[in-house]
Amino acid sequence: MSNRKIMIMPGDGIGPEVMAATMKVADWLAKHRSFSFDTMHGLCGGVSYEKHGVPLTDETMADAMACDAILFGAAGDHRYDNLPFELKPERGLLRMRKELDLYANLRPAIVFPPLVSSSTLKEDVISGLDIMIVRELTGGTYFAEPRGREERDGVVYAYDTNLYSVPEIERIGRVAFDLARKRGQKITSVEKANVMHSGVLWREVMTALHAAEGDGLEYENMYADNCAMQLVRQPKQFDVIVTDNLFGDLLSDCAAMLTGSLGMLPSASLGDIDPATGVRRSFYEPVHGSAPDIAGKGIANPLAQLLSFAMMLRYSFDMGEDADLVEKAVEKALESGKRTGDIMSPGATETGTDGMVAEVIDALDHLAR
Ligand code: IPM
Ligand code: MG
Repeated sequence: MSNRKIMIMPGDGIGPEVMAATMKVADWLAKHRSFSFDTMHGLCGGVSYEKHGVPLTDETMADAMACDAILFGAAGDHRYDNLPFELKPERGLLRMRKELDLYANLRPAIVFPPLVSSSTLKEDVISGLDIMIVRELTGGTYFAEPRGREERDGVVYAYDTNLYSVPEIERIGRVAFDLARKRGQKITSVEKANVMHSGVLWREVMTALHAAEGDGLEYENMYADNCAMQLVRQPKQFDVIVTDNLFGDLLSDCAAMLTGSLGMLPSASLGDIDPATGVRRSFYEPVHGSAPDIAGKGIANPLAQLLSFAMMLRYSFDMGEDADLVEKAVEKALESGKRTGDIMSPGATETGTDGMVAEVIDALDHLAR
């Protein structure tokens, strides 16, 4: 098989640290398993702004388009808070999501048994938790027009639009239904149909899709505010949650904390299969963001980045066994009692980014024996 081409984009803040840690695991796989890959490095976010004056260049965008998968770190830093909107680091990330048409964002929240005591929630509420948030990623408030800022009669207004079309809702719905079929057979569709027109349409389309194609799947509609509450009250009632771009952003941060830390949650963003190449457009990134407050200190938790890499193996390269191996090694590393600060619990030993990944590599050595 010809080598897979992966675009590595560490980005800003803790991105480079957690990416470097993940690459150690990639190197382990290259050495011990039949994993061969070509990597390209690309700049996105504040790092690109510093070098090129824009958060993503057209050349880098074109390179990303030509890769089989993109592994992304994080974008953003408070240093850029006062830049014009279009130059902010996050715009680079959002441009990639849009231009690659990565409409389906999968955010699995899984509680690793050794971490049950790291969550702020009670153990019986979260132990064994395994839910999947499917966030629509290329529409809604993040992208829809009109959006902007203007002055009317001396008063400044700013606005965004939460626009969705029937095909946009159907295609994300189908992704969620397919996932539920492979998991716990249950879908919760989340919106605010009580106050938003887009919510009414979302509910209508999802309900009809369930009637037409959701054979055997349990289905419910839920308001987004209620869903936020239910996620902290009784998260195990959920299997797959499907929701729009903005609600998905909020609810996935909430779900992340159930697992112990934002530093544990990976994500995969998938588009359709490109008919020209036969490759599914795909992008993998941790949910945590750039965490500028701890950047450069060597203390960031590398596991969400590493688990995003595992998702890449599974979804882009059909390497489920290797993905399982990496995930098992993460669990074993956590069992060893070594923890980064964000997932510390009484009795555990605090370590840094490198210490944590060294534990994972140790676990891989053991598992591969
Ligand atoms: C996420 C992040 C991004 C988002 C930011 C960095 C633009 O919070 O992936 O959840 O809002 O989508
Ligand atoms: Mg977010």
